[in-house]
Amino acid sequence: MLAFIWAEDQNHLIGQNGHLPWHLPSDLHYLKKTTLNTTIVMGYRTFRSFPNGALPQRKNIVLTHQTEKLQGQNVLVAQNKAEIERLIANDQQVFIFGGRSLFEMFLPEVGYLYVTKIAHTFVGDTWMIPIDYQQFTLIDQKKGIVDDNNTFKHEFLVYRRLTNTNTRKETLKLFQS
Ligand SMILES: NC(=O)c1ccc[n+]([C@@H]2O[C@H](COP(=O)([O-])OP(=O)(O)OC[C@H]3O[C@@H](n4cnc5c(N)ncnc54)[C@H](OP(=O)(O)O)[C@@H]3O)[C@@H](O)[C@H]2O)c1
Repeated sequence: MLAFIWAEDQNHLIGQNGHLPWHLPSDLHYLKKTTLNTTIVMGYRTFRSFPNGALPQRKNIVLTHQTEKLQGQNVLVAQNKAEIERLIANDQQVFIFGGRSLFEMFLPEVGYLYVTKIAHTFVGDTWMIPIDYQQFTLIDQKKGIVDDNNTFKHEFLVYRRLTNTNTRKETLKLFQS
């Protein structure tokens, strides 16, 4: 399974100054549960946004032109798409974690979309790429719980591509929140 996973606001905003534009622990919890024991692939700016470096219990792959700056960071480093493809060749569950350039790179072959839609608008500088949802069908939808720590309405959606272009073995992860 090759999937995108991201959260966006009502204007498809995903980032602000190298970080997430919102505080929504419920989404971080969902992200963790969904991607544990899988492979996650991200650009260097997304990796840099993690406060404690590589995310544990996941195979972290980071795309960068400058491999030396990631030495000793407990991640696998790729310099281009071909290198990513080599690193994920035997992996059953691969999540493209962003940012924008990674989503652009893997849009032609992505089979699943895991998107958290936040019913609010924020200020930021990085937006999700346009996605033609006509090519996908909704297969799962759960409302996130709004409480004192998660003040924005949000829901977790999963889409599957209608014509799957990806030959990777399909082992879908869906969780109860
Ligand atoms: N809301 C969400 O779900 C979500 C998800 C992910 C990220 N984000 C946010 O989005 C922002 C980061 O995303 P971004 O799009 O700005 O950056 P990004 O894609 O995470 O990282 C960009 C970097 O990746 C490397 N890179 C990109 N394309 C490459 C290529 N073809 N070959 C080699 N290296 C390449 C370069 O690193 P070097 O400069 O080191 O060469 C580039 O500067 C942050 O604000 C983050 O918090 C949000």
